Amino acid sequence: MSILLGLTGGIATGKSTIAQFFKDAGIPVIDTDHIAKQALQPGEEPYDELVDAFGADYLNVDGSINRKKLAQTLFHDKDAQTRINAIVHPYVLKRTRALIRQHQEAEEPIIVVDVPLLFESGFDQEMDQTLVVYTTKAVQMARLTSRDAIDEAYAKKKIAAQWPVSKKRTLATHTINNSKSILETKRAFDELLKHLKEVAA
Ligand SMILES: Nc1ncnc2c1ncn2[C@@H]1O[C@H](COP(=O)(O)OP(=O)(O)O)[C@@H](O)[C@H]1O
Ligand SMILES: [Mg+2]
Repeated sequence: MSILLGLTGGIATGKSTIAQFFKDAGIPVIDTDHIAKQALQPGEEPYDELVDAFGADYLNVDGSINRKKLAQTLFHDKDAQTRINAIVHPYVLKRTRALIRQHQEAEEPIIVVDVPLLFESGFDQEMDQTLVVYTTKAVQMARLTSRDAIDEAYAKKKIAAQWPVSKKRTLATHTINNSKSILETKRAFDELLKHLKEVAA
């Protein structure tokens, strides 16, 4: 039985870190954040729609979309958020499903999909299993402020914009505690991978 595994967690709890472990182990990982970034590239369908909807104010001089400005608007303006999502989401969903299909056709036993808002979006329904990587709240705050060089007030808002990690944990098939050292996380990962390989064999 092959396993389609949805990988999620809270912001800065370690999704990308775990995704890298999977890649290092030769497991294909589909990065939906990366696909969402591709949506903003000139030549892609959502790019034209976004430029139509939001105007040249959101363009860099080279014609690429100013992602920082778009992200800020997305964060502060609910109405704009709805419009941006309506343009970008269908593209991400289509590309992600196509990549899943490709890996399934190649008979990959384990396929990982990294989706920050896996449960919030309902995309967990399309997964066989889910993995939530979590940390304590204090560790999440420390890693987020340090990685993104933002203050605690803004970090709090970012964290509050997602479901609590504690809630996601209750919905997960598997969880990994990434509160401590990378070494300990790697150990927990190795154990999980062994289990997944046995099930997928
Ligand atoms: N166990 C760990 N110990 C120390 N730093 C970590 C650990 N796991 C992740 N980090 C760091 O914390 C930050 C957030 O991790 P990341 O994997 O980018 O989270 P996410 O993809 O969930 O937003 C990154 O700077 C990463 O290098
Ligand atoms: Mg990440």
